[in-house]
Amino acid sequence: MPLDSLYTPILEDMRAVDAVIRARLHSDVVLIRQVAEYIIGAGGKRMRPALVLLSAGATGYHGSAHHELAAVVEFIHTATLLHDDVVDESDLRRGRKTANALFGNAASVLVGDFLYSRSFQMMVGVGSMPVMRVLADATNTIAEGEVLQLLNCHNAAVGIDDYLRVIRYKTAKLFEAAARIGAILGGAPAAAQDGLARYGMHLGTAFQLIDDVLDYSGDERSTGKHLGDDLAEGKPTLPLIHVLQHGSPAQSACVRSAIEHGGKEAFAQILDAVRSTGAIEETRRRAESEMKLGVAALAGLPHSTHLQSLLDLAAFAVGRDH
Ligand code: IPE
Ligand code: IPE
Ligand code: MG
Ligand code: MG
Repeated sequence: MPLDSLYTPILEDMRAVDAVIRARLHSDVVLIRQVAEYIIGAGGKRMRPALVLLSAGATGYHGSAHHELAAVVEFIHTATLLHDDVVDESDLRRGRKTANALFGNAASVLVGDFLYSRSFQMMVGVGSMPVMRVLADATNTIAEGEVLQLLNCHNAAVGIDDYLRVIRYKTAKLFEAAARIGAILGGAPAAAQDGLARYGMHLGTAFQLIDDVLDYSGDERSTGKHLGDDLAEGKPTLPLIHVLQHGSPAQSACVRSAIEHGGKEAFAQILDAVRSTGAIEETRRRAESEMKLGVAALAGLPHSTHLQSLLDLAAFAVGRDH
């Protein structure tokens, strides 16, 4: 199912969020506007703000703070992307040159900092201490995840549990926070807040598992990112860990060397090993079981169009090609 149709119950809200995003990007410093508008103008799926809105809707929220907070979550996401592309040395995102490729690493890092700090100003403006706690914790955990990942790069001894910890921290935590914030706004009881947060955590984990699959098997025209970026950085993601554990001695040795040295030279050979050992299917299977755990966590919520979109979003995260 295309994302647009999942966003039907929140179409007006998404427009309002877009307006907040545009208004809050403002700075008198021209380079900040240029870089921030460059990456935000390229679009993106906007899944995290959608999650805030859907979770708020599914728990009966009727105020207007959800627009501001959805924009906050998208700003935090965008800041992580600006920093991540510098660290990963990526040069294609959302089908365009990355900001670091166009404006340089320094501008990307500094505008990422601008977006983080602008998001703090915005959440203080909303003034909900429980929401601020969730977002402060999530932002801190994302940073831990990116640093943990840095430590894992070029290390072929990284196992599945180490990998899962990284993706929970760097990606799933923000999905979890987005879903929890919506439930806090909706005044949901603690059990429903926890259920939505668990849903977000599993959704984000499934989402990153598929992102790591797409780095080997995607189509650049759909993902808008280069294939093989993870391999180039020597990132031990699940497809590679699977080959290390289940491949022939020659296949494992090839993957081990690629992780240790990085670079894309062995991409074709690695792709062969990834395909022939069933690493893609295994990673997809894990994403699917995360998705099911996420869906199960929504069991207590009353039926609504918002809830239906949350369920469909889980299926999208696993079936997506972009
Ligand atoms: C990219 O996230 C970073 C990951 C966590 C894999 P998205 O795939 O949601 O990026 P956009 O916002 O749609 O470009
Ligand atoms: C997600 O990891 C990064 C963040 C959570 C910031 P990736 O490095 O796999 O994301 P992409 O593939 O560059 O979008
Ligand atoms: Mg990256
Ligand atoms: Mg990736």
